[in-house]
This record gives sequence, C-alpha cells and structure tokens, in this order.
Amino acid sequence: MAQVIDGKAFAARVRGQVAEHVAGLKARGIVPGLAVVLVGEDPASNVYVTAKGKQTVEVGMASFEHRLPADTPEAELLALIDRLNADAAVHGILVQLPLPGHMDAAKVINALDPAKDVDGFHILNVGLLGTGQKAMVPCTPLGCLMMLRDHHGSLSGLNAVVLGRSNIVGKPMAQLLLAESCTVTVAHSRTKDLEEVCRRADILVAAVGRPEMVKGDWIKPGATVIDVGINRIERDGKMRLVGDVDFALASSVAGAITPVPGGVGPMTIACLLANTLTACCRANGLAEPEGLTP
Ligand code: GUN
Repeated sequence: MAQVIDGKAFAARVRGQVAEHVAGLKARGIVPGLAVVLVGEDPASNVYVTAKGKQTVEVGMASFEHRLPADTPEAELLALIDRLNADAAVHGILVQLPLPGHMDAAKVINALDPAKDVDGFHILNVGLLGTGQKAMVPCTPLGCLMMLRDHHGSLSGLNAVVLGRSNIVGKPMAQLLLAESCTVTVAHSRTKDLEEVCRRADILVAAVGRPEMVKGDWIKPGATVIDVGINRIERDGKMRLVGDVDFALASSVAGAITPVPGGVGPMTIACLLANTLTACCRANGLAEPEGLTP
C-alpha cells in the first residue's frame, strides 16, 4: 500500500514556519499584508476568500478584503488595483478567479504590480518562471513541489508526467519540474495512448478536473502520485469530494499518494501565505525565507 502524503499536516507546518518569520518581521516593525479581491458572489470563491482571510490573520499578517458587486465596471476594479499597487501596507494582491464575463481577466491580472502578484499569474512572472529566473510562483504547483521534494529529496532525472495543461497548474508545474531536472511530459485529454504515457511516470501530477479518471493500471508500481483534482460527485446519495485519481485503486499500486481531501488542497493557501511573506521580504530588501520558495 502507498504511503499517504498528509497535505493537511504539511500545510500546518508551512503555516507555522510562515508565522515564525512574520513574528520576526514584526519585531522590526514590518507587518506583511495580503489583499484579496472578490468580484461577485460565486459560492465556491466566497468560501476560498473567507478561508484565505482567516488564515492570513492566523499567521499574524494583515488581511485586506475587497468584495465588489458582480456588475462592477472593469475600470473600477483596475482603479482598486492601482491603489493596492501603490499601498505600502499591501505586499501581496490576489484577484479571485473566475471574474464576471464582462471583465478581461488577462488585462486585470496584468494590471497587478508583478512583485505583489502572489498568484504568479502576471505575464512577467510566467516569463520569469519559464526562463528559470526568480518569479512569484503559482501557489498550487508550489505546494505540489514542496511535497515532492519532501518525499524524494532530489527529483533529478525522474520521469514526471503532468496530466493537464492549465495556466494555473499544469504549465507552471511542468516548468517547476523541469527546473528540478525532471524529464517532463505534459499530457492532456488529446494525448495518444494516455494511459501508457502515465504509466511511464515516476511522478504523476493529475490536474485535469475529471473525477477519478486515473485508474490503478495507469500508474507505474512505486510511483508518486500528486492529485490536484477537487471534484464534487454524488455517490450513494451523498455529495463527496474526489480527486482526478481513483484513490482506492491507485493507492494499491503507487509508492506514495496525496489524498482528496487533505492532500494538495490545504497546501494551496499555505503557499499563498508563503508567497506573501516572500513578497514582503523582497519589498524590504530582506533575505527570503528558506524552504518556502522554489
Ligand atoms: N480560482 C481558482 N483557483 C484560483 C487561484 O489559485 N487563484 C485565484 N486568484 N483564483 C482562483
């Protein structure tokens, strides 16, 4: 049976490290601040934004929440971003996605000061990551990388397959694994012989948003499986949260696996806090916290 990688415990450790650094900064009169902007009332987004604000305060940082109505004109959101960019108390800015249909998400994200872009979605950060330069790195792939490094030590030379090609997870995950000297394959719904491609992976990161798509015989015996999926399905008359990997089948083949819930999910907000701390240290010309950046 696979070792189950406990993302919940890992995230608690990361938050502890962040809190310790924040306490050190406070002793020097510096309080890291994170601004989260939510436009509209998407229920899932509302849950995330509330959790982010709560955890930000718990690690000792300042939390600034901006909730705007769904019909807010784009110009008004851009004006708010300008104010947050100029606000010295704000070190990180996160605009919760998806944005309402009348807004151009790329335009909004690229209006952020790249140094405050704690999601790592700004085109400059995407380019910095892709060229191996110091960037703000998207939170979910960063969390996956932390767990992989913790489990393996060196990832050099391993075959990594990233299943999914989104800008938020798949693409940045592939860049991070390349930087770790993995041999990286990005697979997706149109990949030929998908199962066989996955079976070559020493590390399989599943981020496609298809409930329990990856079965036991897609996995190389002993491989490490990171399941990024968060899918709500109905089973036996109850709503359940499942990943992109069939956990029951996969865990009898894999060497290590992240569960859903309790795997990658909790790491994402922990990494958002880590990124905010990193942004604050950079803004103040201080050494970056060790172990919390790629
Ligand atoms: N919506 C879903 N995931 C994310 C994320 O990582 N960041 C932001 N800003 N919005 C999201």
